[in-house]
Amino acid sequence: MTSLRERLGLRLPLVLAPMAGGISTPALVAAVSEVGGLGSLGAAYLTPEQVRQAGAELHRLTSRPWAINLFAPQPVPQITLPQVQAAAAELAPFHAELGLPAPALPQTPEPDFAEQFAAALACRPAALSFTFGRLGAAHLAELRGRGILSIGTATGLEEVRQLTADGVDAVVVQGGAAGGHRGGWAHDEQAGTLALVRAARAVTHLPLLAAGGLMTRDDVAAALAAGAELAQCGTAFLLADEAGTSAPYRAALARGGETVLTRAFSGRPARGLKNAVTEGVAYPLPSPYQNALTRAMRAAAAQAGRPDFLSLWAGTGVGQVRPGPAAELARQLTAGL
Ligand SMILES: Cc1cc2nc3c(=O)[nH]c(=O)nc-3n(C[C@H](O)[C@H](O)[C@H](O)COP(=O)(O)O)c2cc1C
Repeated sequence: MTSLRERLGLRLPLVLAPMAGGISTPALVAAVSEVGGLGSLGAAYLTPEQVRQAGAELHRLTSRPWAINLFAPQPVPQITLPQVQAAAAELAPFHAELGLPAPALPQTPEPDFAEQFAAALACRPAALSFTFGRLGAAHLAELRGRGILSIGTATGLEEVRQLTADGVDAVVVQGGAAGGHRGGWAHDEQAGTLALVRAARAVTHLPLLAAGGLMTRDDVAAALAAGAELAQCGTAFLLADEAGTSAPYRAALARGGETVLTRAFSGRPARGLKNAVTEGVAYPLPSPYQNALTRAMRAAAAQAGRPDFLSLWAGTGVGQVRPGPAAELARQLTAGL
């Protein structure tokens, strides 16, 4: 069977993790692809037009393969007015400190998946990765028909089995150390990355991408030895020159500290550095509402240089994050592999 690395023509066993919210800029994605890894554009928060623009820019920047990442369609939960009031009340002191009006749930709808998916296809990526759930048979058939590899995300063995049954081309196995949102939907085992890769190896024939806490060349080598074909690294690139990481976020990463799993910013569990919001919010709205409710606060905090009110997504390896050109970081992560 042809390996994923061969199918994608990769020189390095490395995937730049998609990082939505403007972190995985086209410049960062292209830099990793150019050096021989697979850059991934985190496109989940982009409008279809922005997806098309980013895709066009990527084609200008590199002729090497790259991936686009989307959030799989989610069921939208019902919420009540008292829930909204409780969640808004918790954010009110943060708004006051930033000089913002009282928090209110905006009417802005979430990006439409069908439109995002169509825009992603039009970009002709080498692969489309997705997280938070499964894609339907029609979506997977459309990818296959266009020669675009499909890569799902699993946080436990049940999800590995479901994605295998769906017929995806590869699976990201996300261990508990990973920065950013938990990608699962069935059962999140929050296991160590290497242990989860070994266990997943035993239940699927599909190529695996190991994700979570891989910060050094030795971490990547260990993930490959455990049975992954590629290592997907996010946190290791947060201080890359080409990353879209904001100045206050960069400063917080450089200081480091403890990471926590929190639903405070988006309503979905995600790992990031502990701050005033992760410690002060006990009643977040379910996803996607909390994300909408905290949007104004996050934007104002980035402007004002206040990391205490920003989502500072990072994995447990954050203490080892280093600045530098992405190509150099990619080479260091895979030296001799
Ligand atoms: C800032 C940030 C944003 C992320 N955004 C996404 C995303 O949009 N889609 C996705 O599939 N994974 C996302 N992730 C998770 C990564 O795909 C990956 O699982 C994780 O970065 C691996 O762990 P590490 O951060 O310890 O390397 C994000 C991670 C970080 C740190």
